[in-house]
Amino acid sequence: MSQAEPAAEGVKTEMTGWGQDTLPAVRAPEASLSLPAPGENLPPEEGPAGDEANGLKANSQRLLVTLRQAMQDLMQDQGPSPEEKGALLYDLLLAWTRQFYNSPQCRSGPLLDVARDLVGTLYRLLAAAPRLGALALSFRRLDAGLAGHCLNVSLLALSYARHNSWPETAARTLGLGALLHDLGMTALPGAWEKSGPLNSDELELLRRHPQGGVQLLTPFPQLPGKVFLMVAQHHENADGSGYPLGLPLAAIHPYARLLRILDTFEALTSVRPWRPPLSPAKALACMLYSGAHGSEFDLRLLENVRRFLDRLTAQA
Ligand SMILES: [Fe+2]
Ligand SMILES: [Fe+2]
Repeated sequence: MSQAEPAAEGVKTEMTGWGQDTLPAVRAPEASLSLPAPGENLPPEEGPAGDEANGLKANSQRLLVTLRQAMQDLMQDQGPSPEEKGALLYDLLLAWTRQFYNSPQCRSGPLLDVARDLVGTLYRLLAAAPRLGALALSFRRLDAGLAGHCLNVSLLALSYARHNSWPETAARTLGLGALLHDLGMTALPGAWEKSGPLNSDELELLRRHPQGGVQLLTPFPQLPGKVFLMVAQHHENADGSGYPLGLPLAAIHPYARLLRILDTFEALTSVRPWRPPLSPAKALACMLYSGAHGSEFDLRLLENVRRFLDRLTAQA
């Protein structure tokens, strides 16, 4: 594990047991969510029946094959620069994310395998590209909705991992968790684009979206346990004021603490119906101010991220 990886010096003692990339080592916080065992007690998924459902599955299968082939062709093609390959890979991942988020009937283990491979390929590409900083910001689409947000956070997470020379397995887990972190928001259609305040029912649903995301991923126990923790804990705050459980810092997985920071940065620097995007420098200044006057964030990690973002924006 590299020095700047979240479970590094300073949190090792409190995080004993987090090091394994397997589900049993990271079960405790999930157990407190009373989650169903894989495949059990899931609410029946409503969706189109008959021909329409078969058509969706056939489309999903086609997308799966297309993505795999496109990824292979892209990486074997000697023509494009790493930056151009990165931009194309970003588009493939955006197609994947839209499909996985928007079509519940199409979610499958093989589709998740494709995402894992795409994320791993992007991570390797980030290593090969000389202008890492420019890659991480220039690919971003600022108006691509929920799927675009999740992909952008994933790209930032992969870039952070690359900046700190994480091993690929750890980076892939981090990138996959970031890609899936807001899956539970699909239970709240329209909230992402809503320009006015949410009503009380919508707020209640919003606060449940971390558990909702975990439930939607429960049929896929092959995902690393850290991915489930990232989804479950990405709105927990360092001072215990977050949701859904109000966990103290020591109980929040370091990957989820990192995601809390990158998720906020991405949100602040993206278009929202009620405001234009902040510049990266302004967003970072807001987060540092917030860190100095409250404690939503793990301050040690925030400092690591500040150094990473300083370099990233200087290269962009
Ligand atoms: Fe979220
Ligand atoms: Fe998010």
